[in-house]
Amino acid sequence: MTTTSTVLLLSGPNLNLLGERDPAVYGTATLADHVATAEAAAVSAGLELEHLQSNHEGVIVDAIHAARGRCVAIIINPAALTHYAWSLHDALDAFDGPVVELHISNPKEREPWRHLSVVEPVADRTIAGFGGDGYRLAVEAVAELLESPQARGDGR
Ligand code: DQA
Repeated sequence: MTTTSTVLLLSGPNLNLLGERDPAVYGTATLADHVATAEAAAVSAGLELEHLQSNHEGVIVDAIHAARGRCVAIIINPAALTHYAWSLHDALDAFDGPVVELHISNPKEREPWRHLSVVEPVADRTIAGFGGDGYRLAVEAVAELLESPQARGDGR
């Protein structure tokens, strides 16, 4: 029997506009470019990647619920939801596998309202400020966490 290890990549509001949106902050690569980067890294790590982008908080909460028992890990760029969507915190807290929070920019070096991440307390790793390369780094972090569950460290 073959089993596939599926990693869910979630992209929050406005990330569908990458490539056009604020290129000085987010660069000119599109979301499809970033997903392709993550997919290539997943293939190298022997993982399968599934991607969902939504501009709606509830759709992302539903996707996290649907990943329970089905996906081995979640990589999430919650975009602006990062800073206030406690429903994402609670949904991710109810997911058993590794969670990696991902940002293209480094929100902690931007406007004060971006400094709080409600996802950070339930993330095993946060990767921020590496631009598009963060998508590769996030998949590599997932692969490492799956290989060495003790690396999660905090008993999540
Ligand atoms: C972002 C950072 C967030 O503050 C912002 O709202 C985004 C994108 C990033 O990838 O750098 O939409 O998550």
